[in-house]
Parts: sequence; structure tokens; C-alpha cells
Amino acid sequence: MGASAKKKIASQLIQEIADFPPLPDVVQAILQASSDPESSVADLHSLVEEDISLSSSVIKLANSPFFGLSREVSSLPRALTVVGMEEVQNLVIANAMFQPFKEFNSKKDRLETLWDHSFRCALTAKLLAPRFCLSSSECFIAGQLHDLGKILVIMAFSNQSLAKIYPEGVAISSHVTSEQELLGVTHDILGARLVRNWLFPEKLCMAVGYHHRPEKATSHHEFCHVVWLADTFTHLADEEPGSASSQALIELLLSKTAVQRSAGFGMDMTPFLVDELLHDIMEVHDSFK
Ligand SMILES: [Fe+2]
Ligand SMILES: [Fe+2]
Repeated sequence: MGASAKKKIASQLIQEIADFPPLPDVVQAILQASSDPESSVADLHSLVEEDISLSSSVIKLANSPFFGLSREVSSLPRALTVVGMEEVQNLVIANAMFQPFKEFNSKKDRLETLWDHSFRCALTAKLLAPRFCLSSSECFIAGQLHDLGKILVIMAFSNQSLAKIYPEGVAISSHVTSEQELLGVTHDILGARLVRNWLFPEKLCMAVGYHHRPEKATSHHEFCHVVWLADTFTHLADEEPGSASSQALIELLLSKTAVQRSAGFGMDMTPFLVDELLHDIMEVHDSFK
């Protein structure tokens, strides 16, 4: 494709960011309730109980290994108390981001796959956060939003074109290369513009914009590195153990530059640690199935 055609596609995609739906009302309402010191779990309960999928996510989270409870939590009020305001806020944002697009039946499978990957990346980032002394809540949201730019691409192109942009059976890391080749812009750049448009904190804009190239981030380097790790481990958890793609991801995590970056943030990444983390990550992912 010629350079001017690519430039046109890229600028059309960037233009679409301006027309992207604003944050849904329920997000605004819950963000307000969560940040208001006067609001109680009861206020949150009335907002959450209206949404069945959100209620079930809160109950699943309360029963996940994160909270390590010995007794099962089955009621929403109890789950809200266990999980807390901040975590509920995370789940609401996570659910709501994808809500406006669930109507698009022709793209349903792609959007669901993206939602599933994003949610599992959020869980992974949350799990990794304490090892870097970062806020697990912020890491969760960054993990959830990191591939947001792909929604723009999915909504802008036909399934036929998408099959070329995101061919089946190729390493997920090559998505960025094919986006660059076919569209002249990549989903990390598009996602960062989108969250900037929504006036999200700079930290999140950086993590979204640099989740494939954390070494290029101009600030919040550790945060971007954790989101890169979370994304890479999430893909690794999807791969058949011992397969070529699984091996390639392990090599990426243990590459000289990645090990140096991890070490710079206090994590001594070894084959043993990769195994250990992968085990813990898969356990958390499984608890949400
Ligand atoms: Fe990505
Ligand atoms: Fe991703």
C-alpha cells in the first residue's frame, strides 16, 4: 500500500477518536459514588445490583484467590464489603468500556476475544503490582485498557479486512507490525489518543501508549513495564506449554533487554520465576472462568 493511502487511513482512524462515545453514565455515577467519602456500600449496592453481569463479576472477584477467603461469598452485599469500593470501580470501568460495542453482532466474536484478553491482562497486572510496589488497582485498570485502540480498528474495518490486519495463527506481537504496514498507525498509539481524549491520568495514557514498547515511554517507566509484562504473561498463559509460540514468549521475557529492565525495577527474572508467575497467573485466570 502506498504511503499516501496509509496516511489517509491513519488520519481517518485518528479522526474517529473524536466521534468515539463518551464514558457511559453508569461509569460516571459509580466513579462519583466511589470518590465521595459520604457514599456507602449501600449506595454502591443499588448501582451494581442493576447490572447482572457486573454483580456476578463482583461476586467472582470476592471469591478469587486475591482475597483468600475460606468461606464462599454468595451474596452481593457481602461481596461488595469484601471487594471494596476501589475494586468495584475498576470492574465497572472494565465492563463499561466494552458495553457500547456489544451491540455489533458482526464483530461480536472479535470484541469478546478482546474483552476476555483485556480482563485477564488486568488480573495479571493486579497480581504483578505488589512485586513492584505499585497500586494493584491502577495496574488492573491499565491492563484492562491497554488494547483499547484495537476497538477502534475493529469498528472501522470489515471482518474481511480485519482477517488481513489480524491474521489467525500469527504471533500476537506481529499485530503491531501488520497494523503499521496496512494502516500506517498502531493500536497502542490510537488507544493512547483515546484515553487522553477522555482525560484519563497521564500514567494510564503512558501505559496504553507504550505497552508494546515500554522502553520508549517518556515517564512512568515501571508502570509501563508491568503492563508489558502482564500482556506478555497473559498471552503466554493462552499458549500450549512447550509450543513454538509459548517458547517465543518465554524467550521474550528472558531476553537480555527485558531481564535488564525487570532488574532495574527490582525483579530478578529467571526461568524459575517465569514458571512460578505463570502458575499463579493461570490460577487467578481459572478462578474467573
Ligand atoms: Fe497491544
Ligand atoms: Fe494485549
